[in-house]
Amino acid sequence: MCGIVGYVGKAKAAPIIIDGLKRLEYRGYDSAGIAVLHQGSFHVAKEVGRVAAVQHTLASSPLEGTRGIGHTRWATHGGVTRENAHPHLSSDGKIALIHNGVIENYAAIKKFLLTKGYTFASETDTEVLCNLVAYHFEKEPAPADGGSRLLDAVRKTLLHVQGTYGICVLGLDCPDELVAARQGSPLILGVGPDELVVASDVAALVSRTQNVVYLKDGELVAISGNTFQITNRDDVGVDPVIDQVTWKVEDSELGDFEHYMLKEIFEQPVALENAMRGRFSADESTANFGGLNLTPNELRGMGRFMFCACGTALHAGMVTEHLIERFARVPVECDHASEFRYRNSPLFTNTLFFVVSQSGETIDTLAAMREAQRKGFKVLAINNVVGSTIAREADGGIYQHVGPEIGVASTKAFTSQLLIGAMLALYLGRMRDMSVRDGTEYVAALKQAPDLVREALEQAPQIEEIAQRYARYEDMLFLGRLELFPIALEGALKLKEISYIHAEAYPAAEMKHGPIALINPECPSVFLVPQNEIFNKVISSMQEIKARGGPIIAITTAGAELPEGLADEVITIPACHEAVLPIVATIPMQLLSYYIAVARGCDVDKPRNLAKSVTVE
Ligand code: F6R
Repeated sequence: MCGIVGYVGKAKAAPIIIDGLKRLEYRGYDSAGIAVLHQGSFHVAKEVGRVAAVQHTLASSPLEGTRGIGHTRWATHGGVTRENAHPHLSSDGKIALIHNGVIENYAAIKKFLLTKGYTFASETDTEVLCNLVAYHFEKEPAPADGGSRLLDAVRKTLLHVQGTYGICVLGLDCPDELVAARQGSPLILGVGPDELVVASDVAALVSRTQNVVYLKDGELVAISGNTFQITNRDDVGVDPVIDQVTWKVEDSELGDFEHYMLKEIFEQPVALENAMRGRFSADESTANFGGLNLTPNELRGMGRFMFCACGTALHAGMVTEHLIERFARVPVECDHASEFRYRNSPLFTNTLFFVVSQSGETIDTLAAMREAQRKGFKVLAINNVVGSTIAREADGGIYQHVGPEIGVASTKAFTSQLLIGAMLALYLGRMRDMSVRDGTEYVAALKQAPDLVREALEQAPQIEEIAQRYARYEDMLFLGRLELFPIALEGALKLKEISYIHAEAYPAAEMKHGPIALINPECPSVFLVPQNEIFNKVISSMQEIKARGGPIIAITTAGAELPEGLADEVITIPACHEAVLPIVATIPMQLLSYYIAVARGCDVDKPRNLAKSVTVE
């Protein structure tokens, strides 16, 4: 959460920082600000609201200067006010700092700094950090070896700090320098021919350079002019590994779409093609993954799988649980990453862990992974962002290859996670009892997924009409069974996060154990009711809702015969293999929540209180 950008180069810093911040807005968007160091002073512009508000201010009073820092905020400590927006300046005016993360011991540090005469204009933990850098900068002499005094002050500061941070720091007395550091929050250094850019995400860098260094926890980078030096927390030099980013600027542009969410919903057929490309075996009866870093023998020896993730990614894990248990006959458990890390549950020795994370930076998922690794387990990651912390720290994994996902509500990342889960079930199944014939059929079914999703997307106009009729409701239920129960959970999550309608999901048969009390004509239910072995059971649940006056939207498969008049609305998706069904059934859920949110006038891509990459606990 929060996006940060730092720039040192030959070009004017402000437009580059603003452009970078706009691309990072999905990380937080309640206020924004920029500080540029020019002719011996800091020039600061901060506004409550979006980055565009700062850009507007800069249009009438542009900032000169070729080094600067900028921030887009998702509030943690202190309300959404101009004073709390970053960058913060130390009370002696000598240090400017931006921060993504949370300083847990800020109160004790603040108490100490007050005794030293430092004052505070905001309620933030970041201003405390900034004043502590100023304190060390003033207190300590310049390093005897001629090294950077700013770097030294930042290093000393961080020794006293508990919590997470990605920071960029400028010093008034060191006009050529910028120091950045990370612990628990992502930070990437872009290395251009004449400039260096630091940012929370490659999205903010790719318009300047494709060459990046992914900083690791505990590392600091000191930029001086157009050179940089990386050191670790023990002050030992680190040789930089420069990677090439494959994402292009166009990948994160909106194009002709009104919202990123809609763009990403419609990108799904291609995203699925990319996620499966090159991953089927030559004889077409199983899947292949390059980066698992386990021999088939080791994999076959695993007696249990465990999936940890958060939110939408957890729902993908839950569907995968069904598919692995059904097709590979190996027990699987799923847990909220945030719970797993503190639960200390007993674990079977031959368990293989998977974490699922689009961003690869979700702190709860990262912590769950580290906890499992600490206990001696191998952890594989299903992840979209190459070079993310989870990708780098996992013991192996599977990249989703769907390009940048900008919409805060996850869509294409989710369906590609479902696809990878389905491929994993196939791979593990074929290592066990699944026959060549069943494997071949399964592969053929998966290969149809992109076209089936294209077909499901054709329902968009009909779903938009339905959305108009249902946008006025304030409560909704989502009901599905087996591998579609997690899809019901996902439908409810999508609806509540972007339209602020209260939505809950249950396995359809659970209704009568309590939630049915909610049913009345003002509480519609969305049923996932494909033609399968429990079709009639789900129909019975629908009858129970109908009998109590609850409106029903049914999402069913082609060829299924719903009793006349049972559902108020029927959305038909193509009939398909059960490994593909969760993917196809997701499409109407996404479109329904999107069009309802638009009909309610909600800001679909930047829902209130949310941020895409949740890097705080
Ligand atoms: C909802 C959504 C979130 C994320 C969750 C985990 O639309 O996007 O629930 O799925 O915050 O994020 P990642 O996958 O980046 O770990």
